[in-house]
Amino acid sequence: MPAPFPHPHLLGIEGLSAADINLILDEAEPWIAFNRGARKADDRLAGLTQINAFFENSTRTLFSFEIAGKRLGAQVSNFHPAASSVRKGESLIDTAQTLNAMRPDLIVIRHEANGAAVEVAAHVDCPVINAGDGQGEHPTQALLDALTIRRRFGRIDGLKLAICGDIRHSRVAGSNMRLLPLLGAELRLVGPDALLPASPPAGVTAFTDMDEGIAGADVVMMLRIQRERLEAGVADALGDYHARYGLTRARLAGAAPDAIVMHPGPMNRGVEIDGDLADDPERSVILEQVEYGVAVRMACLDLLTRSRRG
Ligand code: CP
Repeated sequence: MPAPFPHPHLLGIEGLSAADINLILDEAEPWIAFNRGARKADDRLAGLTQINAFFENSTRTLFSFEIAGKRLGAQVSNFHPAASSVRKGESLIDTAQTLNAMRPDLIVIRHEANGAAVEVAAHVDCPVINAGDGQGEHPTQALLDALTIRRRFGRIDGLKLAICGDIRHSRVAGSNMRLLPLLGAELRLVGPDALLPASPPAGVTAFTDMDEGIAGADVVMMLRIQRERLEAGVADALGDYHARYGLTRARLAGAAPDAIVMHPGPMNRGVEIDGDLADDPERSVILEQVEYGVAVRMACLDLLTRSRRG
């Protein structure tokens, strides 16, 4: 068995080393073949209880954590805020402590507040995985993105990656801006000023011109505009967004000849990405990202619960 993951929780890419990330990616690899098999049942998490507490909507992350836990044999319960005492005013921490009293072995949390997963981890006795906190981090998304890139190119080191769109409000960008340079990628951020971070991390270049930003890129990662997180008036001031920042086949011709297109989803077809490009299996790896998300989450569940399994 490889060295255990040396962290009690997975709260962000912040604080992880390249070795930690490569351990998760390596552990995820065999689960891809397993998930393509006819019988998808392992029992290493048998007898353990996994709670998925999603305070914000999700399709990919919630379902893949549920499927991952079940394929590993865990008892998986989904906490639904709209049908819970959150509606009666119960706080996040009281909710976390209440769930903790039922002795779960792992809690997966998504919440609209930055830092929510860190807060919850400080009040419970089991590992916590951050499935997205406000505009903070979404570490398992960055990990599945990295696995997708590594499988396509055989490496991440030395690749040119452009993340395009609403970077300022995106926790996917937040985690990828930490992970990808750590593994040796050259990272560029592309978007209008209002959607770029106030100060890009050291070594990361920002572009407001889409064609300049994706020129020669090996990977073009598109992000939706997070309208639910925009300050008043910003969306209206973006103008013809598709014309300036939408990824079209013609625009992609300026990237590297074998460039791949990524998107964490959900997509807004015809806004940040053309539908025919999103559906092109030669260029788009969007559904591979979804597929590998299950494998990455299986690896995370396995690694974080090893010490509890003896
Ligand atoms: N990528 C992502 O987090 O998608 P969901 O919101 O559907 O989980």
